[in-house]
Amino acid sequence: MITTDKNIKPGAIGIFDSGYGGLTILREIRKAMPSYDYIYLGDNARAPYGTRSFDIVYQFTLEAVKYLFDQGCHLVILACNTASAKALRTIQQHDLPLIDGSRRVLGVIRPTVEKIGEISKNGNIGIFGTPGTVQSGSYEMEIAKLHPEFHTYTQSCPMWVPLVENLEADKPGADYFVKQETDNLFTQNANIDTVILGCTHYPLLYPKIRQYVPQSAQVITQGEIIAESLIDYLKRHPEMDEKCSRSGSCKYLTTENPDKFSEMASLFMNEPAIASRITLS
Ligand code: DGL
Repeated sequence: MITTDKNIKPGAIGIFDSGYGGLTILREIRKAMPSYDYIYLGDNARAPYGTRSFDIVYQFTLEAVKYLFDQGCHLVILACNTASAKALRTIQQHDLPLIDGSRRVLGVIRPTVEKIGEISKNGNIGIFGTPGTVQSGSYEMEIAKLHPEFHTYTQSCPMWVPLVENLEADKPGADYFVKQETDNLFTQNANIDTVILGCTHYPLLYPKIRQYVPQSAQVITQGEIIAESLIDYLKRHPEMDEKCSRSGSCKYLTTENPDKFSEMASLFMNEPAIASRITLS
C-alpha cells in the first residue's frame, strides 16, 4: 500500500540539460507519458558543458537541480550525459541527503548501458560523447560492470555540441566534423556493430552521423531508452509516481535568449513552445 504524505504537493518532472540536447529526451518521454507535467531547463547561456571541468559541471548541475526542486519537482532527470557522468553520483550521494532525501535525481548513462546487451550482437560498442563524458570513463565503467565480455571504444566529439547550439547541425560545415570523428571511432575497430550517441545533443546530427557510420553498424539514440526506463522506474517506485503531477503541461526555461529557445523547441517538439528566461546561481 502506498502511504504518500497528503501534505506533499505533486510537481512536474524536471528535465535538465546544458542546452537543447535534452529536448531529444523530453520529446520521447512526453510521447510515452503525455499525461504528466514537465519542466525543461536548458542552461544554454553556459553550454557547452562537455569541455568544462568536473567542478564546474557539478556546480552548474547542482544549481539547476536546486532550481527545479524550488519549482516543485520531486524527480529530476539529468538529460545530459556530461552532467550524468560528472555530477550525478555526487549529487545523489552527497547533496540529496542534505537538501531533501525524498527527492530523486536520475541520469541517462546507466539506463543506456542496461539496454546495450539487447542490442549488440558482437559486443563491440562505439560511444560518441563530449570530451567530459569520454574523459570520465563512465561508459567503460558501466559497460564493464553490466557486460564484462563487451569491448568499448569511445570517441570524443568536441565540435558537435557547438554545431547544434549554433543551429548549424544540418549545414554542410557539420559534415567535416561528423566524418572526422566517425573515421576516428571506426579506426579503433572496424567491427563495431553498435554506436551509442552518448550525448543528448547528437540526435540532432543523426542524418549526418547515419551517413558516415558504416551501414553494418546500428546507431542508437537515447530518447526511447530513457522514456522506457522512466516508465519502469515509476512502476517500481509508486511513492514517486504519486508525487508527479499530471495535467499534460510542459514548461520551458532557459538561461539564454528565450525567443531563440522557443523557436528551436517549437520546431523540435512539433508544438508551440514558449520559453522563459531564468538565472541560475
Ligand atoms: N547534451 C549534453 C550531453 O548529453 C551535453 C552537451 C554539452 O553541453 O557539452 O552530454
